[in-house]
Amino acid sequence: MSTETPTLDRTAAIARLRSHKENHKWSLRELFGASPNRAQAFSAEACGLYLDFSKNHLRPETLEMLLELAEALDLRGQIHNLMSGVAINNTEHRPALHTALRFQGEPRSEHEQAVADCRLQMRRFVQQVHGDEWLGFSGQPIRHVVNIGIGGSDLGPRMVMEALRPWNRENLSVHFAANVDGADLSDTLATLPAENTLFIVASKSFSTLETRQNALSARQWMLDAGCRQEQLAQHFVAVSSNIVAAQDFGIAAENIFPMWDWVGGRYSLWSAIGLPIALGCGFDVYEELLAGANKIDRHFAEAPLANNLPVLMALIHFWYRQCWKTGSQVVLPYAQRLAKFPAWLQQLDMESLGKSVDRSGQRLEYPSGSVIWGTEGSNGQHSFHQLLHQGTDLIPADFIAIRQPTSALTEQHRWLLACCISQSQALLQGKSQQEAREELEAQGYTHREAHALAPHKAIAGNRPSNTLIVEKLDPAHLGALLALYEHKVFTMGCLLGINPFDQWGVELGKLLGNAVHEAIGQEAPAHWDGSSRELLKRLF
Ligand code: F6P
Repeated sequence: MSTETPTLDRTAAIARLRSHKENHKWSLRELFGASPNRAQAFSAEACGLYLDFSKNHLRPETLEMLLELAEALDLRGQIHNLMSGVAINNTEHRPALHTALRFQGEPRSEHEQAVADCRLQMRRFVQQVHGDEWLGFSGQPIRHVVNIGIGGSDLGPRMVMEALRPWNRENLSVHFAANVDGADLSDTLATLPAENTLFIVASKSFSTLETRQNALSARQWMLDAGCRQEQLAQHFVAVSSNIVAAQDFGIAAENIFPMWDWVGGRYSLWSAIGLPIALGCGFDVYEELLAGANKIDRHFAEAPLANNLPVLMALIHFWYRQCWKTGSQVVLPYAQRLAKFPAWLQQLDMESLGKSVDRSGQRLEYPSGSVIWGTEGSNGQHSFHQLLHQGTDLIPADFIAIRQPTSALTEQHRWLLACCISQSQALLQGKSQQEAREELEAQGYTHREAHALAPHKAIAGNRPSNTLIVEKLDPAHLGALLALYEHKVFTMGCLLGINPFDQWGVELGKLLGNAVHEAIGQEAPAHWDGSSRELLKRLF
């Protein structure tokens, strides 16, 4: 099957969408005025996730045009290619088979068989640790796990552990150290007893600067605490596709969990990179997470495009990015335990879509990935929401609400959800100058004062948002939520005609970092720019 997408002229298709936008002016208030039941027509539901996309600048014909574009690009065929192992990562000549990591039932391919073997290895290891059979150098059982990894080898498991706090085991705590800043590792280790601490060195490449530095320091910390060289194997396991490098580091072959080149780092939490989750929450919980993600995989592969959640979310994002010139999208999970979701999503989305050329290397004539940012609600309301409501930029928002309470403080949950609904309502409605003036006069301001103050109090409104309701913050729904966004990003990649599975852009900085490190304490090479030469002098 071909890895190449149909040669549709995207620039022309985008031009048609732009002219549709210019020729049909409407406001969100008008759309709801004309069709009060819009929420029924502009919503879709699957796998315990309900997407209300009615608060968007979409008319039925807009959606039709976007869906036609998806059809013309053979999105279905591209989804099939993704899931059937076609080498769609065309610059690295390999498939992107993260969906195989969450297969259910009996393995049906070589890839699934490898995953099944890995799951068995993980399950046995987790049983040993939980059963106090895996002992540290002094004969103590393991009570602390420190995951050393960065990017995709950190953000996913870190976010999931926090999201699934009620499932965290009591007698095994999981910690994360990522930054090359030694403060991260040393603060993490400050209170940990070495004798019952286990390190997972998680690195697909096993060559990442931060992870190597932290792993070396962790090994020294263990030796300093009295662990003998030959006992280090009891305290270090690895997850990597670079078995040789992991062994060179001193990790026993049987303690290395596999990774494969057909899984991208930012799509890897479903692999053994999820080992901290399996240890920290239990293997069954890890499997429920996989099963939830698998449900969305099937939905993505099978549901008609018009009801397909990831497809709809991508089309809407594409519409704003291409036709409304939006430069960023804000994601607002109204759930404290999803505080790290935006950081995970940033890597997923921006590392995938931050490209300037199409799959064949031609310069894009339209914008690609945008800035993804956000924080947990309701906290963001008291920091940056001002800009969402009254700033000059249009920033589409994804609100994520969890229907069932996540704590025993149920009244607070009602307030949380009220905040979530009211924010999207305020973005939509806004407040006209006249409404602001009338409000001020009703409060006793003179006509003159009300007139002067009204422009400051007016809120443009007409600002779009999606609201995604997740039934419950449990492993299965969380798995579904994460896979939903993975597939949204893939769909964006298809719409943009780019390869969302490479990340060559990060390489140059890494290379230069090595050169700068080598230059420390010496005269900077003459070919460096003047600023970098001066910075080297001042810092060292
Ligand atoms: O530098 C970016 C990156 O390659 C990410 O894509 C990846 O998730 C991260 O670094 C960590 O890589 P590794 O797992 O190989 O250490």
